[in-house]
Amino acid sequence: MLRALFLLLWEFSSNCYPGSLDRNKVAGKIVVCVASDFSISRRIRKMVVEDARGRGMILVNPEDTGVPFDSGTFPFIEVGGRYGTSILKYMNSTKNPKGTILAAVDVPGYRPAPSVAYFSSRGPGPLTENILKPDVMAPGVSILAAFPPKNVTGTVPAGEKPSWYALKSGTSMACPHVTGAAAFVKSVHPKWSPSMIKSALMTTATVFNNLGKPVMNNSRQSASPHEAGAGEINPIKALNPGLVFHTTTLDYLRFLCYYGLSNKDIKSLSPRTNFTCPSNSTNNDRLMSNLNYPSISIAVLSRRRIGRAATATQTITRTATNVGHVNSTYIATVHAPSGLRVEVLPRKLVFTERVGRLTFRVVFNGTKAPRGYNYGSLTWRDGRRHLVRLVFAVNVE
Ligand SMILES: *[C@@H]1O[C@H](CO)[C@@H](O)[C@H](O)[C@H]1NC(C)=O
Ligand SMILES: *[C@@H]1O[C@H](CO)[C@@H](O)[C@H](O)[C@H]1NC(C)=O
Ligand SMILES: *[C@@H]1O[C@H](CO)[C@@H](O)[C@H](O)[C@H]1NC(C)=O
Ligand SMILES: *[C@@H]1O[C@H](CO)[C@@H](O)[C@H](O)[C@H]1NC(C)=O
Ligand SMILES: *[C@@H]1O[C@H](CO)[C@@H](O)[C@H](O)[C@H]1NC(C)=O
Ligand SMILES: *[C@@H]1O[C@H](CO)[C@@H](O)[C@H](O)[C@H]1NC(C)=O
Ligand SMILES: *[C@@H]1O[C@H](CO)[C@@H](O)[C@H](O)[C@H]1NC(C)=O
Repeated sequence: MLRALFLLLWEFSSNCYPGSLDRNKVAGKIVVCVASDFSISRRIRKMVVEDARGRGMILVNPEDTGVPFDSGTFPFIEVGGRYGTSILKYMNSTKNPKGTILAAVDVPGYRPAPSVAYFSSRGPGPLTENILKPDVMAPGVSILAAFPPKNVTGTVPAGEKPSWYALKSGTSMACPHVTGAAAFVKSVHPKWSPSMIKSALMTTATVFNNLGKPVMNNSRQSASPHEAGAGEINPIKALNPGLVFHTTTLDYLRFLCYYGLSNKDIKSLSPRTNFTCPSNSTNNDRLMSNLNYPSISIAVLSRRRIGRAATATQTITRTATNVGHVNSTYIATVHAPSGLRVEVLPRKLVFTERVGRLTFRVVFNGTKAPRGYNYGSLTWRDGRRHLVRLVFAVNVE
């Protein structure tokens, strides 16, 4: 009974639960916490150790997220099960286990990178699956960013000033990278519209990591377009995309009609246009997928012909605008999972001085495709340097 109680208490303190650490034992020490209960976050565990005046903390987390934690100035490290076991063995092997806290160092050339962080938002989008989400990836893990200095006792080492910088993670860090890239493209092509810049960033995004393998997710498997979107932005390549997929405000207003908004709703959103919805167009999945977007998504591709709404094939159209050399010829290649038939018509686009925009169709046939989301890409190549990739996600039912 007593032993069971002891084990229970040990469990509490080894997890670094709030209130479980004895300040007399912990003060001035490096504390090793073993995460076996995941109901409390590493932020809370760190606060518990800091509160008990620990000098630093090692968190053994068998479900290692692989993403560093914004621990501020408090010495903190997280290790997975393998290193954790070695540390615990070492601690068992001696009466007086010792650790050393070294100054932080830069780790250049980390591999594999980029990869999709565990907390990164996954598609499909909650509002409609006829537009692929997310669009792109950008750096968002442990970004050294400007930060309002916080002068809270205990967070600033004695004699030091609060920092104007902090390591931060999340969309708030990825978004400024994309914004900067968009501004960079705009500075070189001042006449390009936002949709052209977005298209340039998406169709030139990189889908390989620095090991030359497809970008992975946090389970170390190939990341799908619902995790990585079109890939990680490559601002230099986005300066010269070859082709862009251009959309106008009118395209988006029509899209809202297809989504189901009424003329009255749209009038209130866009009072200065005399726009009215095309008749019989509301709640039209097929037309939503036809927005001239730089990726393709089909919410439902039926394996069988059911009524009029869903058929075994669906045809998507896109219009490409040439922003490269005026005389350019592009050839399409398709990467699709076996079973999903994807045909591009025509397979060749010939741009000339008089032909700057061309429309093509992509026919998806899901008759033999596995059920669920099928992912792939369609790439236009001009035989020079341009590679215009449209990723797709097709949900076969
Ligand atoms: C350390 O010792 C404790 C108590 O004897 C034991 O329960 C635990 O399994 C040991 N841990 C390692 C990693 O050897
Ligand atoms: C931080 O706060 C302490 C007391 O609250 C104050 O004495 C000190 O001047 C402040 N330091 C800075 C850099 O603002
Ligand atoms: C990672 O990708 C694999 C295969 O694409 C998928 O099955 C898995 O759910 C993904 N893992 C996470 C954590 O998203
Ligand atoms: C809207 O219609 C009115 C009246 O027909 C016309 O005067 C105005 O120029 C139109 N506005 C736009 C943005 O087309
Ligand atoms: C209604 O939709 C069908 C199919 O898209 C189209 O052929 C027809 O012309 C539309 N009718 C009107 C009145 O717009
Ligand atoms: C494009 O091709 C036409 C016809 O071959 C030629 O006359 C023209 O000079 C070319 N334009 C450029 C910019 O190379
Ligand atoms: C779709 O593919 C199947 C075979 O995979 C074929 O029998 C069928 O004719 C195709 N449908 C269309 C409309 O092309």
